[in-house]
Amino acid sequence: MEAINNASFLLYLLLASTLYSRTKGGDTLTPSQPLADNGETLISSSGSFELGFFSPAAGSKDRYVGIWYRNISVQTVVWVANRQRPVTGQSGQSGRLSLTINGTLVIADENSTVVWSSNSPALADPAARLLDNGNFVVSGSRDVTSSYAWQSFDFPTDTLLPDMKLGWNLTSGHSSNLTAWASATDPAPGRYATAIDPHGDPQIYLWAGMRQFFRGGPWNGLRFSGIQEINKSVFNTFSFDFIVDSKEITYSFHSRDRSILSRLTMHHSGVLQRLVWIESSKLWNVMWLTPRDQCDNMLSPCGPYGVCYPSRSPMCNCLLGFRPKSLKSWDLRDGTGGCERSSELDCRNGTDGFVVLSGAKLPDTSRSTVNRSMNLEQCRALCLRNCSCKAYASANISGEGSGCIIWITELTDIKAYDGGGQDLYVRLAFDDLGLESTNSQRSRRVIIILIPALAILLLLCAAFCIWRRKKTSQTNSDHSAYTEEAVEEDDFDLPLLGLAAIMDTTDNFSLDNKLGQGGYGPVYKGKLWGEQEIAVKRLSKTSTQGLHEFKNEVTLIAKLQHRNLVRLLGCCIQSGERMLIYEYMHNGSLDTFLFDKNKGKLLGWKTRYNIILGIARGLLYLHEDSRLRIIHRDLKASNILLDEDMIPKISDFGMAKIFGGDETIGNTKRVVGTYGYMSPEYAMDGIFSMKSDVFSFGVLILEIISGRRNRGVYQSTRHLNLLGHIWSLWKEDKGLDLVDASIGHPIPTDEVLKCIKIGLLCVQERPENRPTMSSIVLMLGSNSFLLPEPRQPGFVIGSKYWSENDSSPSKKDSSVNQVSVTILEGR
Ligand SMILES: *[C@@H]1O[C@H](CO)[C@@H](O)[C@H](O)[C@H]1NC(C)=O
Ligand SMILES: *[C@@H]1O[C@H](CO)[C@@H](O)[C@H](O)[C@H]1NC(C)=O
Ligand SMILES: *[C@@H]1O[C@H](CO)[C@@H](O)[C@H](O)[C@H]1NC(C)=O
Ligand SMILES: *[C@@H]1O[C@H](CO)[C@@H](O)[C@H](O)[C@H]1NC(C)=O
Ligand SMILES: *[C@@H]1O[C@H](CO)[C@@H](O)[C@H](O)[C@H]1NC(C)=O
Ligand SMILES: *[C@@H]1O[C@H](CO)[C@@H](O)[C@H](O)[C@H]1NC(C)=O
Ligand SMILES: *[C@@H]1O[C@H](CO)[C@@H](O)[C@H](O)[C@H]1NC(C)=O
Ligand SMILES: *[C@@H]1O[C@H](CO)[C@@H](O)[C@H](O)[C@H]1NC(C)=O
Ligand SMILES: *[C@@H]1O[C@H](CO)[C@@H](O)[C@H](O)[C@H]1NC(C)=O
Ligand SMILES: *[C@@H]1O[C@H](CO)[C@@H](O)[C@H](O)[C@H]1NC(C)=O
Repeated sequence: MEAINNASFLLYLLLASTLYSRTKGGDTLTPSQPLADNGETLISSSGSFELGFFSPAAGSKDRYVGIWYRNISVQTVVWVANRQRPVTGQSGQSGRLSLTINGTLVIADENSTVVWSSNSPALADPAARLLDNGNFVVSGSRDVTSSYAWQSFDFPTDTLLPDMKLGWNLTSGHSSNLTAWASATDPAPGRYATAIDPHGDPQIYLWAGMRQFFRGGPWNGLRFSGIQEINKSVFNTFSFDFIVDSKEITYSFHSRDRSILSRLTMHHSGVLQRLVWIESSKLWNVMWLTPRDQCDNMLSPCGPYGVCYPSRSPMCNCLLGFRPKSLKSWDLRDGTGGCERSSELDCRNGTDGFVVLSGAKLPDTSRSTVNRSMNLEQCRALCLRNCSCKAYASANISGEGSGCIIWITELTDIKAYDGGGQDLYVRLAFDDLGLESTNSQRSRRVIIILIPALAILLLLCAAFCIWRRKKTSQTNSDHSAYTEEAVEEDDFDLPLLGLAAIMDTTDNFSLDNKLGQGGYGPVYKGKLWGEQEIAVKRLSKTSTQGLHEFKNEVTLIAKLQHRNLVRLLGCCIQSGERMLIYEYMHNGSLDTFLFDKNKGKLLGWKTRYNIILGIARGLLYLHEDSRLRIIHRDLKASNILLDEDMIPKISDFGMAKIFGGDETIGNTKRVVGTYGYMSPEYAMDGIFSMKSDVFSFGVLILEIISGRRNRGVYQSTRHLNLLGHIWSLWKEDKGLDLVDASIGHPIPTDEVLKCIKIGLLCVQERPENRPTMSSIVLMLGSNSFLLPEPRQPGFVIGSKYWSENDSSPSKKDSSVNQVSVTILEGR
């Protein structure tokens, strides 16, 4: 009887192994059918992921077992089993991945030496399956529970996939982190890792070796406090879970749309990045990456009670009510010593209050106390009651805001964002509370938490503001007394100047005062009210725009304010004249420096790099961050002005808008712009988009590095323009040859090469391959970043447009059909 039973069980096993065994392309590994390194792979049921042997470096004999996306053209490995020890061997591909009958996964080489095993608990009748989310799991084949004896998701390498958990399982004590590869071709654990620190309010940290070097901060309900998305569309595509309870402290994300491939990866250069696959351009697009800016290069760059501002120079400031501990090192731009209170707290008498720092990355929370059920009012009361409490903030800013974090240790590693971040309430002594500035939008909230005495101060301030406003509008109307047309002050909050005043200040538009001739008319210098120096742009009369429209556009454009844009101060509309009044820039335009051998020497590499970065930031603001979406359409060296500190300011922005045509992607009959900076699709088809500006920006980068104009370079044999010339040097790995000799030595070659590469990425022929301005700013701002290889630029050879001869017949004619631009094929 027993024998029969045994026999039938054997038969069953035999049947089972034939029925359930892996046929080629199946998703299951069984003890009877190991996976050999002969091209065999497991493929998940709907074909998303593939598991098999691979070599990270072409031609290498080192073989690893890994999982990669099956359906994309760039092999992207998301998990590696034997990352420490590859299968090597004389006979080449001789490794085997097998499942023992006890349920352990084993990789063995040609001599059956085990190089890796999964060390999972024993299991009867096991099977290993590659699931559709990229998880490789081992379970008993008759096991119907959802838990697995072993799963690859518990042992991430450098990549977090949707549904995978990063962090701590408090029941088992197991923690998982992302550890970068040692290099692009070596999956061994590298120097950099991302892990979750469970202390206090749990935070995400980046590690270099045994040292933390970047704090991503606590989860605030929407994101990690110290990591800013650059692409807000992540919220539409993904949902995020940060679970803190007695069983686990984990972070995970989930894709709402399975067809969108996304991953979080610790890159071997030490950058944590979220990537999304873009099928049309066959690239991984960066949604965000970190560390990102000057504040992220170390932990707490501005010390205790210091605040780091990513876009300011110097970057460190003290919190309101605090002063630098050591003025001397602060002056030397070393903020790490931090700040100290101006007045000591007076806890017992109950006179302390709070100031709010808006847009903050929360201070280190590893030693702070959290209560997730309190509201902000209770939180404030709790903090006031406890004499060692230094600050409080909301623990969860999603929705109404909830929860309470309290700091009783000093506040370190604070950063303030321009957008994003959250409110941090810092406790101050009574004497320091009045320092709060009243012009911030958030100041109303402060009133609630400050003691009533401050209200009086506010009232006084308000009165002063009203008085001042009245006074300014009076001054304005003095000037507008000159205007004939009925321009109402109220619907136009930009100072309106009279023609007579302008003629006076520019000496009747005298040639002496003429600064130059821009695309939209001449520019004159003047002095306003006897002191402020201004530049007056006298618009040519070709604009077809009505007065009302013109005023609307100018008002909108005046509201665009950015450190890297020239400020519009006012305008003049009178007697058929239209003029724009700008701040005056002392160092004139970039082209006068760039293309002049002697003045070029004044621009060292650092200055040039800062100019590139500044232009990128200004352009990003125009494209994405301002309320309007502005395409410049005529970006070129002569439209970049430099102030006393050589800070670049983009001028002539919004002119395309003023002159009509404000679509984001448009098709225009009238091609404005300058040959040499124009993208192929714009020059040929009149199609413009933000990517046409990106092209012009790329040309500008390459001009800034080479000190040469895009239409001024020839090699005697080939008629190549600057782009062609640079491309051929780049292909020959001689990119550094094009660097302007005026820059002097030494130059940081890595940074220069990075800039050239970014320049080449911007001038790629197909607009969809060019990066967006936000990616460009990121690429420029991060020290190390994996840039894609640029493709062939959209450049032309032998065309009359690129000839130095300005009297070339076609140059005068800007009608689209006659613009013949040829694209060079291959080399
Ligand atoms: C694979 O990619 C193609 C093209 O992007 C797509 O049409 C197809 O649905 C994808 N297949 C799977 C299984 O994701
Ligand atoms: C396998 O064994 C042979 C003979 O002992 C040896 O030469 C070879 O190096 C071994 N291969 C590996 C990968 O250890
Ligand atoms: C499976 O487990 C049994 C008992 O624990 C052990 O004797 C045997 O060696 C194991 N087999 C393998 C292939 O690991
Ligand atoms: C934690 O580990 C235990 C034991 O391995 C397991 O049963 C449990 O499901 C894990 N918890 C989570 C949240 O993964
Ligand atoms: C990440 O995990 C690996 C393997 O568990 C461990 O050796 C390493 O110390 C961890 N790194 C950090 C920073 O936690
Ligand atoms: C943001 O990401 C989406 C894909 O999820 C992409 O279509 C869009 O172009 C991105 N925006 C920017 C500014 O990069
Ligand atoms: C409380 O106020 C009194 C009078 O203003 C002052 O003398 C005393 O020092 C204060 N207490 C503390 C702890 O500062
Ligand atoms: C959190 O705050 C609530 C409400 O004030 C209180 O009932 C609860 O005991 C607090 N929890 C902890 C752990 O302190
Ligand atoms: C202040 O709060 C901290 C943390 O919650 C606590 O350890 C400490 O005992 C409190 N001090 C007082 C005086 O309540
Ligand atoms: C944060 O608050 C939102 C809205 O109240 C809530 O849905 C979410 O679960 C909270 N998150 C955490 C981690 O408590």
